Amino acid sequence: MTMIIDRSAGIDPVEATRKQRLDYMRRAVSHLKNKTSDLADAPMANPVSVYTDPGRHALERQKLFRETPILVCLSKDLGEPGAFTLFDETGVPILVVRGKDGAVRAFMNVCRHRGAALTHERQGKATRFTCWFHGWTYSNEGKLIGAPQGESFAGEMAGRDHLIEFPCEERHGMVFVVATPGAKMDLDAHLGAFGDVLAAMDLQQCEKVKSGTLPVASNWKYALDTYGEGYHFATLHPQTISPNTRNDVVVYDHFDPHHRVGFAERALEELVDTPESEWEVRTEPSGIHYLFPNTILFAGSITPGKMYLTTFRHFPGETPGETVTHKTVYAYGGVKSPEHRAEVEAAYDGVAHVVATEDYVVAAEGWRNLTMLSPEDTVVYGRQEVALQNTHRAIARVLGLNSA
Ligand code: FES
Ligand SMILES: [Fe+2]
Repeated sequence: MTMIIDRSAGIDPVEATRKQRLDYMRRAVSHLKNKTSDLADAPMANPVSVYTDPGRHALERQKLFRETPILVCLSKDLGEPGAFTLFDETGVPILVVRGKDGAVRAFMNVCRHRGAALTHERQGKATRFTCWFHGWTYSNEGKLIGAPQGESFAGEMAGRDHLIEFPCEERHGMVFVVATPGAKMDLDAHLGAFGDVLAAMDLQQCEKVKSGTLPVASNWKYALDTYGEGYHFATLHPQTISPNTRNDVVVYDHFDPHHRVGFAERALEELVDTPESEWEVRTEPSGIHYLFPNTILFAGSITPGKMYLTTFRHFPGETPGETVTHKTVYAYGGVKSPEHRAEVEAAYDGVAHVVATEDYVVAAEGWRNLTMLSPEDTVVYGRQEVALQNTHRAIARVLGLNSA
């Protein structure tokens, strides 16, 4: 296995992850011993209009999805020069492509002649893109390199010799875009101290195995909320998650506006009376990593001891009650055998089944019911739903609104 280590942040991922895992285990075991948990200071009420109001929805689509860095994919998904992916989930058609110089760039998938699309493939590899309408051709670095009968446009080509470009940067094995042409992206400021956590996840070594979409007739934040609390494990997931994971012990780290949350595995109960020197400490990341505003990186599995990385990227539709979650599962360290591939595919299917038949069923039902309440009615997040509280506060802050 080739291990690609990103030392750009001065971090050795294996050692950093071991330390983080040990820290998590100490805190979880201490909570188990003392019957405690990481908790918010107080419960928090939130108006139902946060989930249902069309004006709020439009503001979120602008501020959070057009003006905030959004994860497109992992760097390795665009591994080779010429590799491209379409990224249109924010509503703007964006073509993200790795140039022959190795840099990733993002362009509007819109021809500068009369607006047709440059590619209709969602993924692929290309050295150039030729518009299917009249054949204008662009390099994979966005430059117009050919226009049939080009002389007939003489005097009108200024500014048309390059595709419209968006801010696009890579960090810690991930590709980010801000979906507004010419906008500024300060990715390091956006990631803050969470950047070290992401660097330790060593995402460069994750190989994509399977991806798909999980649509849900619910607000995108309602869907997102289901990933941030384990309070529902025993009741909503009695057969799937609850047998291996407690619903009452949370280890929570806030990297405002991002966070990491771990729900204590039942296997840790055995460590309460085991000296730390005998603990087996994994060197692979674990837990739910929330990357503001819409992405969950889930390192682990609902099957104990299995390691996969899953990304859940939530995108709002036109109305407050439409969401599509783009889900991709990766094999840490690459796919080692056909059996390994089948195992990771089965993990995708297993988690997708739980999400689609349990979490998203209740998300659709709950959201629909919220639309029947008065906008001043509230939902409430308990102290154990600390991740939800902080996420909703951060969203309100970015929108310039007050929250509880
Ligand atoms: S619209 Fe693309 S070449 Fe005419
Ligand atoms: Fe769930």
